[in-house]
Amino acid sequence: DWNAGNVIAEQVERIRAQVGDARVISALSGGVDSAVSTALVHKAIGDQLTAVFVDHGLLRKGEREQVERDYVASTGVHLITVHAADTFLGHLEGVTDPEEKRKIIGREFIRSFEQVQRDLVAEAKAEGEQVKFLVQGTLYPDVVESGGGSGTANIKSHHNVGGLPDDLDFELIEPLRALFKDEVRAIGRELGIPEAIVGRQPFPGPGLGIRIVGEVTRERLDVLREADAIAREELTAAGLDQQIWQCPVVLLADVRSVGVQGDGRTYGHPIVLRPVSSEDAMTADWTRVPYEVLARISNRITNQVPEVNRVVLDVTSKPPGTIEWE
Ligand code: XMP
Repeated sequence: DWNAGNVIAEQVERIRAQVGDARVISALSGGVDSAVSTALVHKAIGDQLTAVFVDHGLLRKGEREQVERDYVASTGVHLITVHAADTFLGHLEGVTDPEEKRKIIGREFIRSFEQVQRDLVAEAKAEGEQVKFLVQGTLYPDVVESGGGSGTANIKSHHNVGGLPDDLDFELIEPLRALFKDEVRAIGRELGIPEAIVGRQPFPGPGLGIRIVGEVTRERLDVLREADAIAREELTAAGLDQQIWQCPVVLLADVRSVGVQGDGRTYGHPIVLRPVSSEDAMTADWTRVPYEVLARISNRITNQVPEVNRVVLDVTSKPPGTIEWE
């Protein structure tokens, strides 16, 4: 019988045997897989592990605090945060093409991580130690998919943005390689990781950067972050998290429309709600969210986010629409 406690005990043994007294680094994304693989390695080797979290300024509301405060409090992982929002937004200035955005975000992510890695290697060397290992949250479906060499691998290759290049001079620790997502979640719960992280819906590596149709700016990110937080709060309060695979909230930054808000005419931006139901993100259907819930989200967003004067619902399945707008 499958049992989270047994898997943890087995992996802890394996990781200790693999690592010895070398040092290990790990990149935390805020997602389930990196959170659980990192916590598992930490359970095995404690402070021989350093976790790195890159704040690229494209995170959702509360996400950094969730990692820096709640995740660290529950796991005891030694964490370094790289504050890289200025750098990322600088490179994204004037960029509107989605693939270009992904490339820039992926490249800057690697640069940020490599900087920390160099510092750690130098520090370890000074103490006569070695940094030899890198933690990866690879799951069984990832293993199968990347072995396929089919068209699927191509379509999904851009989804590895936010991952790390293969040519780093590290041995990999991949404690989740034999596991499916629900097993990973069970292990995360057993390790005491907060439900908000373990039960999290998928969120793309490039973050809010690919949910602003148009140029990504600090002001636009603030607008989208507020609208997204309201939508998430209401969907959760309505008990819809199980039914919804994920719900991108998208800012159409280059579209404006006329509205009346407060005591005057406005010329603001639309927000798109894209709730989808899916098994694996390859195909999806739009979720029939109850009208009352949609009404509450719309009212709150237009009342609380002055730049937004219209909320629209995306009723397209995948295919032909993708889940994300970019
Ligand atoms: P699409 O939009 O292709 O999305 O239907 C399918 C799933 O992949 C996620 N997604 C990404 N994840 N980097 C990621 O890490 C990306 O560039 C990226 N683009 C899409 C999307 O959120 C959905 O879960």
